[in-house]
Amino acid sequence: MTGPETALDALDGLLERAAELIARARRLVVFTGAGVSTESGIPDFRSPSGIWARYDPLELSYQNFIASEEGRRKYWQLGRELYATVRGARPNPAHLAIAELERLGFLQCVITQNIDNLHQKAGTSPERVIELHGNATRARCLACGEPYTRDEIQARLEAGEEVPACRCGGIIKPHTILFGEAMPLLETLEAERRARAADCFLVVGSSLVVYPAAYMPLYAKEAGARLIIVNLTSTPLDEHADVRIPGKAGEVMAGLLARVRARLVR
Ligand code: APR
Repeated sequence: MTGPETALDALDGLLERAAELIARARRLVVFTGAGVSTESGIPDFRSPSGIWARYDPLELSYQNFIASEEGRRKYWQLGRELYATVRGARPNPAHLAIAELERLGFLQCVITQNIDNLHQKAGTSPERVIELHGNATRARCLACGEPYTRDEIQARLEAGEEVPACRCGGIIKPHTILFGEAMPLLETLEAERRARAADCFLVVGSSLVVYPAAYMPLYAKEAGARLIIVNLTSTPLDEHADVRIPGKAGEVMAGLLARVRARLVR
């Protein structure tokens, strides 16, 4: 029978093992998903209260966005709701802990599936953040390339424009990757290179069910890296993890950093 004290002892043991792997790492790569941002108020996708419980991902595909005005109207309806949350979101203790790993000299890079810019807001160097699914703060015209900030598009949406179009008449699209859209080539290649060079690979807040992003932990394992998975629920890659820590990213990451810091003063 697991009482509260034995559950805490078990968590403590997991945090100690993970902290030991991180403290010994020379090439630590962190990989994040939407679960690292839910404590900042941004919904994830596959939890019961996630975005895909309210919207059909197939309706929001790249093909639908390009093919019709109706497809773009549906996209911007979600985009307007989500961006209002993203714009006001603040980094939470998990983002701050990852930024501290860089300050302590451990972090090679953060490979993120998130588009919320919170790693950068938390202080992680932008050049160390690889955004596999783009970034929600920028947009552009697909016809003439005219750049737009997401804030100016948001203002147009909030003023009642349902499908913002470019001055040239072209389609305006955010710098985020939709289902069916090609992945950003340079970011994907760089993420794979970094994963294959890692000696410790830390996953925080991802269901690890979307490919090719979810290949990254496997590339690291293939290359001999230690794999740590921090997630509220189980993932298909848990069996490959050297340490799996179930729990909330903010609490777990704060506990992890406290133990890594303690090792540095020994
Ligand atoms: N702490 C730890 N884990 C959490 C927390 C939290 N506070 N909140 C949620 N989680 C976990 C959930 O249990 C879930 O397993 O984070 C995971 C989030 O999984 P998804 O919602 O599938 O998000 P993600 O893995 O980033 O999805 C990948 O799918 O829809 C596409 O492009 C979208 O980038 C996204 C991709």
